[in-house]
Amino acid sequence: MGNTRFIMSMLLLNLAVSFSTRTRTNMHTDQAALLALKARVISDPYKLLINWSSATSVYNWVGVTCGSRHRRVTALNLTDMNLSGTVPPNMGNLSFLSWLDMTNNDFRGLLAVQLSNLHRLKFISMFNNSFSGEISSWFGYFPKLRYLYLSFNNFTGQIPKALSNCKKIEIIAMVSNAIKVNLPKEMGNLTKLQFLDLQDNLIQGQIPSDIFDRMSRLQQIYLDINRFDGEISMILFKFKEKQSMLYYKNALNHIFRPLALKMNPENMLFPPKSYSSKAASSFRIQIQLVPLSCTCGKIEGEKHQA
Ligand SMILES: *[C@@H]1O[C@H](CO)[C@@H](O)[C@H](O)[C@H]1NC(C)=O
Ligand SMILES: *[C@@H]1O[C@H](CO)[C@@H](O)[C@H](O)[C@H]1NC(C)=O
Ligand SMILES: *[C@@H]1O[C@H](CO)[C@@H](O)[C@H](O)[C@H]1NC(C)=O
Ligand SMILES: *[C@@H]1O[C@H](CO)[C@@H](O)[C@H](O)[C@H]1NC(C)=O
Ligand SMILES: *[C@@H]1O[C@H](CO)[C@@H](O)[C@H](O)[C@H]1NC(C)=O
Ligand SMILES: *[C@@H]1O[C@H](CO)[C@@H](O)[C@H](O)[C@H]1NC(C)=O
Ligand SMILES: *[C@@H]1O[C@H](CO)[C@@H](O)[C@H](O)[C@H]1NC(C)=O
Repeated sequence: MGNTRFIMSMLLLNLAVSFSTRTRTNMHTDQAALLALKARVISDPYKLLINWSSATSVYNWVGVTCGSRHRRVTALNLTDMNLSGTVPPNMGNLSFLSWLDMTNNDFRGLLAVQLSNLHRLKFISMFNNSFSGEISSWFGYFPKLRYLYLSFNNFTGQIPKALSNCKKIEIIAMVSNAIKVNLPKEMGNLTKLQFLDLQDNLIQGQIPSDIFDRMSRLQQIYLDINRFDGEISMILFKFKEKQSMLYYKNALNHIFRPLALKMNPENMLFPPKSYSSKAASSFRIQIQLVPLSCTCGKIEGEKHQA
């Protein structure tokens, strides 16, 4: 029901956002969108965008890839360009964009809601910029999204429940932001997830006990440096994937033991002990699941005063 409501509200939002703009989009729209982005760039030390001008075909612009069929912009790769600026709403007109990579720049400000129109996005990286504001629920409106990198920014708020609508998502990285509030139990719907990295945020509360149950492909989880509390218990031991083996590091050097061991013991080396955080304020967990065929390492504990 919540999900239906979400879809309805997203449809309405999308209608509202696109109603005024969805005339026919074409290569000129794409060009205009990119020129709008360039106009918002206040520093381009390597002068890479010099060739983004109406004098040159968009096909030859640095960082821009166009599809051969539709002749529309399909990928934008601004990695390592050291650009400073903001992202204009016009970016939402790049309706064929499936790859948006802004890694290692200094873009800041809020992400315009118009980006939610980019339904073809498979890859989003804002990794290492200075974006702020909440991670909006319209991140749930990318049905093809597989990779989401938002690490090293100033995002706040919560991880939106709506993200669970991105059924294809494989990688979520949101390291070093200021995300608060609990891990939403809806994330448990992300059955294709392989990698989850939420280190160094302000996430509180308990980790929902069944959150990882259906994520049979999960390989690595990093939850260090947050404010989780309660019984982390044994969420971690319910992995159904037989080839998985659990390693973990817990900075307070407490050892985990499952309350209810639902995983085949053969697949687990060193069953951990139970742990309940007294100083609920801060502890670290770092978990890595690797295939059993890997004979590397074993469970480690590590002292760390939080
Ligand atoms: C524009 O970018 C293309 C692709 O990198 C490059 O080959 C070309 O020399 C650039 N043109 C100018 C005027 O910088
Ligand atoms: C994006 O650009 C960076 C730097 O120019 C390059 O290393 C990387 O391979 C590019 N990514 C893709 C998918 O082309
Ligand atoms: C990136 O740009 C900033 C100014 O915006 C400058 O201070 C810095 O040195 C630049 N870094 C590199 C690697 O060019
Ligand atoms: C693109 O988007 C902007 C803002 O969202 C809008 O003002 C503009 O009219 C749109 N269309 C074109 C063709 O640029
Ligand atoms: C972020 O990007 C800057 C250059 O723009 C680089 O110096 C810095 O190491 C990057 N930080 C991370 C965490 O990758
Ligand atoms: C985040 O914001 C704080 C102040 O509000 C600032 O000191 C810090 O540099 C910002 N970090 C990033 C990655 O933009
Ligand atoms: C997602 O998870 C929630 C809570 O775990 C559940 O109630 C809901 O039905 C799920 N939605 C979908 C579409 O699977």
